[in-house]
Amino acid sequence: MPDLSLLTSKRLLLGLTGGVAAYKAAELARLLVQDGAVVQTVMTESACHFIGAATLQALTGKPVFTDLWQANSSNNMAHINLSREMDAILIAPASADFIAKLANGLADDLLATICLARECPLLIAPAMNRQMWENPATQRNLATLQGDDVKILGPASGEQACGEFGMGRMLEACELAAAMRMIFHSKWLQGKCVLITAGPTFEAIDAVRGITNISSGKMGYALAGAALEAGATVTLVSGPVCLAPPAKAKCIDVVSAKEMLTAVKNEIPHADIFISVAAVADFSVTTTRQQKIKKTDHPLTLELMPNPDILKFVTDLPEAPFCVGFAAETEDLEKNAENKRRKKKLPLIVANQAQDAIGADESALILLDDNGKQYLPSASKINQARLLIKHIAQLYKKQCD
Ligand code: C5P
Repeated sequence: MPDLSLLTSKRLLLGLTGGVAAYKAAELARLLVQDGAVVQTVMTESACHFIGAATLQALTGKPVFTDLWQANSSNNMAHINLSREMDAILIAPASADFIAKLANGLADDLLATICLARECPLLIAPAMNRQMWENPATQRNLATLQGDDVKILGPASGEQACGEFGMGRMLEACELAAAMRMIFHSKWLQGKCVLITAGPTFEAIDAVRGITNISSGKMGYALAGAALEAGATVTLVSGPVCLAPPAKAKCIDVVSAKEMLTAVKNEIPHADIFISVAAVADFSVTTTRQQKIKKTDHPLTLELMPNPDILKFVTDLPEAPFCVGFAAETEDLEKNAENKRRKKKLPLIVANQAQDAIGADESALILLDDNGKQYLPSASKINQARLLIKHIAQLYKKQCD
C-alpha cells in the first residue's frame, strides 16, 4: 500500500513567537508528527512566556531550541545547521514584531537568524490583535514578505483573546497542517475545476419526517481535500452532514435531490471533472405535507416517485466533463458497479461494499475503468481519496491527450 502521507519523513522547522495562539502550535506539532514529519521546534523568548518548551519537546520527541547561543551544535552554528537541514519552515504563531523583523531581514535571535539563512520555503501564520493587523506598518511588512515569496497563511477573523472581534486570529492547527501538506504535493490537477457531490439527500415527507440514505459524507469531503491538495479549484455540493468542509472549497449546501440537481446544473459549465459521491435518495414523495402527519391506527400509504439521476444528467450533456461515479453495493459488488458504469457511460466508477464503507473512517475500494480493475485495500478515506485523485488525474490527462 503506497504511503500517501505527504509529510512522511519531511523535516519541518516549527517556529513559535510570542502570542496567545502559541497553544495551538502544540496541536499543530502533534498533527505534523502524526503525518510522519520530523519536527524541530524553535521558540523565541516571548513564545516561552506563553507555552512551555517541555510540551513541544514531548510532542515532537526532540529538544527545543530557544537561544542563539545554546551550545547544542559542535560548531555553534545552530542557525545555519538548522536551516540547511529543513524541507520547510513554518512560523506559528507569527507575531507583528516577528513579521516586522522578517520583512527587514533582522537577525537578532535564533529563529529570525534561521529564517534569514534558509534555503527552503517559509510559511507564516500571523496572530495578533485586529488593530495591530490593520496597522499600515504590518500590512507593508506583509506585502514585503509576499514579494519575497513567503507564504502567508490566514489570519482568520473572529473573537480575539483581548475580547475584541476582527482579523488576526491564527488559523486552526488542522488548517495549518493542510497548508503544510500542500507545499509537498504534486499538483496533478493544477488549473482544473472539480465539482463534487457528497453526503446524502433528504426528501421531506412532512414538516418533521423524511426519506434519506445513510451517508456520512466522509469520502466526498476527503476527495474535496485531496483535489485541493492536487491544485484544483473545488466546488462541493453537499447534502446534510456533520463535517466541516475544506477551507478552500466553494461549498453549496443542499437538502433534496432536486436542490442538488439545481446546484450541479449551475456549476457544471465550469467543471473539468465531476465526481459524484453523493448517496442521492432514489425516491421522493409525490406530495410533501406542510404539516406533521398525525399518528393514527391505520396504515399509511406514501406515493413515491423516482428522483432525477444527477450523474446521468451530467454524462448525457453534449459537452460533459470527465465523470466519476460511486457505487455502494451490498451484493455482487463488481458486477453491479460495472453495469452501472456502462449504463451511466462513465470512464470510471468506484465500488465499495456498503456495509463496510458507510460512516466508517476507512474503506476498501475497487476502481473500474476501461483498462480493467484496480483494488485499493482498506485504508483511511483521506489516503484513498489521494490515490483516487491521482488515478482520476491520470485518466483525465489520457483523455485530453
Ligand atoms: O444510486 P446509484 O447506485 O445508481 O449511484 C451510482 C452513482 O450515481 C453514484 O455516483 C451516485 O452519486 C449517482 N446518483 C446520482 N443521482 C441519483 C442516484 C445516483 O447522481 N439519483
